[in-house]
Amino acid sequence: MADIFNKKYSIEEKLKMLTGVDGFAAVHPKDVQEPLLRMSDSPIGVKKGGSKAMCYPNPCLVASSFDRELMFQLGKALGTDCRAYNCNLLLAPAVNLKRSPLAGRNFEYYSEDPYLSGVLVGKFVDGLHSEKVGVCVKHFACNNQETARWVQDSVVDDDTLRNVYLKAFEMLVKNNNIETIMSSYNQVNGTYAAENKYLLNDILKGEWGFDGIVISDWASVRNLVNSFNNGLDLEMPNNNNSFQVLKDAYEKGELSEETINESVRRLLKVSKKLNITVSNHDSTSKKFNADDISKMASESMVLLKNEGVLPLSKTDKVLLVGEAAVKPRIQGGGCAEIKDRKFLKLPQKHLKEKLAKCDCIGNYDILELGTIDLGSYDKIIVFTCLTRWEDSEAYDRKSLGFPEEQVSAIKYLSKYNDNIIVVLENGSAVDLNFEKDVKGILEAYYTGDCFGTAVSDVLTGEITPSGKLAETFPERIEDLPNLYEFGKRTVYYKEGEFFGYRYFSTFNVKPKYEFGFGLTYCNFKWKNIKIDKVSDYGFDISLDVENVSNYHGKEVVQIYLKSENVFEPRKQLLEFDCIRLAPHEEKHVIIKLRPEHFTKYISGKQRLISGEYGIVVGRSSEIDEYTKQVVLKKEEDRVIDFDTMLGELLGNDKFRNVTLKYLRDAINYWAFGDENSEENFEDNGFLKSHVYDMPIRGIAYFVRKDDKMQILTKMINELTEIKENKK
Ligand code: GLC
Repeated sequence: MADIFNKKYSIEEKLKMLTGVDGFAAVHPKDVQEPLLRMSDSPIGVKKGGSKAMCYPNPCLVASSFDRELMFQLGKALGTDCRAYNCNLLLAPAVNLKRSPLAGRNFEYYSEDPYLSGVLVGKFVDGLHSEKVGVCVKHFACNNQETARWVQDSVVDDDTLRNVYLKAFEMLVKNNNIETIMSSYNQVNGTYAAENKYLLNDILKGEWGFDGIVISDWASVRNLVNSFNNGLDLEMPNNNNSFQVLKDAYEKGELSEETINESVRRLLKVSKKLNITVSNHDSTSKKFNADDISKMASESMVLLKNEGVLPLSKTDKVLLVGEAAVKPRIQGGGCAEIKDRKFLKLPQKHLKEKLAKCDCIGNYDILELGTIDLGSYDKIIVFTCLTRWEDSEAYDRKSLGFPEEQVSAIKYLSKYNDNIIVVLENGSAVDLNFEKDVKGILEAYYTGDCFGTAVSDVLTGEITPSGKLAETFPERIEDLPNLYEFGKRTVYYKEGEFFGYRYFSTFNVKPKYEFGFGLTYCNFKWKNIKIDKVSDYGFDISLDVENVSNYHGKEVVQIYLKSENVFEPRKQLLEFDCIRLAPHEEKHVIIKLRPEHFTKYISGKQRLISGEYGIVVGRSSEIDEYTKQVVLKKEEDRVIDFDTMLGELLGNDKFRNVTLKYLRDAINYWAFGDENSEENFEDNGFLKSHVYDMPIRGIAYFVRKDDKMQILTKMINELTEIKENKK
């Protein structure tokens, strides 16, 4: 096998490598037994495993964990499955942002916040890498809707593109050594992603130094030669006429051998890395059982409302209602979907063993519900889910709500029983217009195969829900800032970074439930919160968190940057930590902020932000536990030159006297009117501000001596000597 990575290939052999071998494989040199890149969808399971493959908790659910370790373990579990099904390149994760809750693939995505996405997904990638499996980070870029996705154009300004939509990709390229990136179907600023030189060559490979493979989304290449000239390395899936198209282009000089060789170099480099035979693969890899995965799902669920109805008690007589209780929606739809789920365990099976009584009506039929003595139950749990034409690749939602029959059933039931609990099965924010009619709301998102145990364990308190919303739940669809710039063929991202909590917090629009929100069965006391400044842009945050309850659980400490600057979001997530605590356990937490937390693209260049800000230690994007006002200021270590403002010198004791000396010698009058003025310019507000803002080169206009520039140069040299302590 070794020589295939070093041998000289003919141009024909190289051209053949640039397109897939079949639907999910690539790079198959002759006399090699199987293709070197063996791919499979998806972020929620290894589809290649067919009906045997496990369907894992979906990204929308695990993102709510805010738990780096959980994400690592999930990646490791999926990596183990990849190995089992001979897949060495998983077509995951998908890190597009939840720009609008209406987008069909949000279940596959993680958050509205790029930093949360980048950090959590980085751990997921590390987990896959721990099993020696490669990743394909997708869809690069701005695939934030499904409508017209093959031609849709995402028009977005450069700073927003970089600070928001590319940030998670950038973090993964720079921090997690990813092997491949998948270009998206859509256009970005008028150019299709698969042939977008700015995205692929300039930013991804040029600025970020990505040295892996750019893979096209399936059949998304519209101009093969342009794509390869602009940064694509592999067209997927196989396309039987691509070889001839590329060969003709090569022979006509439209596709250089250098370009071909560069893609082949990348393809072979990644193939070599991923072709680790299982025998020399780390045999200590952890085997995951269903309980491990179920626990991940339970812990990630978000308890949105609980007025004394959860957890259930053993004496409770409970009625489960809804088709979603017996035919639950456990995953989103499309290429990610893991087929043939036959062996689903259902909540009633588990709850019957733990409660005094647990009946179930597997529909929302009010007539049937009307025949039941609803008041005889201590609690009624309604399971809700979206239709199969929602939360799927290729479809966007037209509304935020659950199907009307489900909402009607909830409202009907609330008339006959005071203790209604609703379990939500969805991939993104929904309209909870029934919230006032119920006492408990559990956001279960899509749990994958473990639905029955995962939900039951939370309802009975076996496991405490510790999730926090990774997206904003708006009060109503009209509150979405980009509602009218969504679902069209050309979409203008006019809102910039102001969507999700960055919008709601800045424009004082009250969400139903805010980003970072989540209740728990525990009771966490936060104590001794301190924020210590350790450098211009360095802050060490510490606190003690105590679990003053009898439940095991996890607390999420969130750190936000709070700005009063109208051109900046009121809140931005800077950092977070998830702490696991046993009953009555206390832990000391340290979270460090460093310059990279305060670096943003501003007018196309990465810069340190500066000004007055609050650093908030919060329980959500709206619940501020502690705030410290800070001034972020980079002590510019500027050289003293002709552009140095006089104010910087006059206002600094080190330089003041020498500066005044030159000013007085060099200038026998201030050309501001009275030639004989003896007035000290610093006593005159106008003169002072004028002089203080003037750079050294400006005073040359007022020096009536021929050797003015020599004088000013001497001045600069003497001040520089002082600055460098040579004087
Ligand atoms: C699809 C998806 C992509 C998937 C690929 C292979 O169209 O956009 O996420 O990995 O094709 O199925």
